[in-house]
Amino acid sequence: MIEFKEVYFKYPFEDTYALKNINIRISKGECVFIMGSNGAGKTTLIKHINGILKPTKGEVWVNGKNTKNFTVAELSKIVGIVFQNPDHQIFASSVYEEVAFALRNFKFDEKYIENKVNETLKFFSLEKYKEASPLFLSGGEKKRVTIASVVCYEPEILVLDEPTVGLDLKQRKNLVNLINELKKMNKTIIVVTHDIDFAIELANRVIIMNEGEVLKEGSISDIIYDEETLRKANLIQPIIPQVVTKLKLSISSKKIITIEDFLTNLEIILKNVKT
Ligand SMILES: Nc1ncnc2c1ncn2[C@@H]1O[C@H](COP(=O)(O)OP(=O)(O)OP(=O)(O)O)[C@@H](O)[C@H]1O
Ligand SMILES: [Mg+2]
Repeated sequence: MIEFKEVYFKYPFEDTYALKNINIRISKGECVFIMGSNGAGKTTLIKHINGILKPTKGEVWVNGKNTKNFTVAELSKIVGIVFQNPDHQIFASSVYEEVAFALRNFKFDEKYIENKVNETLKFFSLEKYKEASPLFLSGGEKKRVTIASVVCYEPEILVLDEPTVGLDLKQRKNLVNLINELKKMNKTIIVVTHDIDFAIELANRVIIMNEGEVLKEGSISDIIYDEETLRKANLIQPIIPQVVTKLKLSISSKKIITIEDFLTNLEIILKNVKT
C-alpha cells in the first residue's frame, strides 16, 4: 500500500510548489494511471515513491515505511521505477550488464541472474544486443532495456514513467501483455502517460494532475466522458466517447468505451439518440 498524506514538495531554489496537498492511496494489486499536462507534477510525484525525493511537508508511506526514514537503495527493493528518459537511467557498458545490474545489487545468485536476464532479453526482443552498448540503441530499444532492467528483479511495486513513448505496435502490445500478467500476479503498477488508449486498456483507476494538484480521480470512463477535465489535462477525448457525446443519448453512456462496446450496444444506442 502506498499513501501520500498532505504532501507538498518544492524543488530547491524554486518559489512555487511542484506538488501541493497530495492525498493518494494506492492498494496492493491496483493498476493506477497518472495523467496530466506537461509540468503538472507527475514525475515529481512518482519520484517520492522510492524516496529519490522526500516531501517538503507531509508524508509518503510505502508498505508501512515512512520514506523519510529509508534510503533509495532500501526502497528500490520494493519499488522499481522506469524513468521517462532512458538516457538518465542507462549507465552499463552492455545491455546484458544493464539488465543484470539490479539483480547483482540485490545479491541474487549468478546462475539465477543469467537465466533471468536471458529470459527478460528474449521477452523484449533484445537478445541480439546482449553485448552491445545500450547507448547506441534506438529510442524504442533503449526504452525496452530500461523496462527490462526493472521488470527482471520483480519488484512488488512497478512504476513506469511514459513507457509507451517510442514503442512500435508490436512492442506496445508486448508491454500491455506484460502488465496484464503482472496484474494477475497482484503486483502494484503505476503508469504515468499521455497515452489515453493505453490507460483504456489497463487502468483500474486514473488520477489526473494539474499544476501540482490532483484534479480528479476516477475510473477510465469517469475520465473519458469528462470533457472539462480532459481539456485541463491537455488530453484528447478518444473517438468513441466523442461520437457518443455528440449523439446526446438519453441513457447513460459510461460503459461505452471501446469500439467493441459501441458495436455491441449499437441497437440500444440508435434507439436512444436524442434528436
Ligand atoms: N529538478 C528540478 N528543479 C526545478 N524544477 C523542476 C525540476 N524538475 C521539475 N521541475 C519543475 O516541477 C514542475 C513539475 O515537473 P514534472 O517533471 O514533475 O512534470 P510532469 O508532469 O512529469 O511533466 P511531463 O509531462 O512534461 O513529463 C515543472 O514546473 C518543472 O519545471
Ligand atoms: Mg514527467
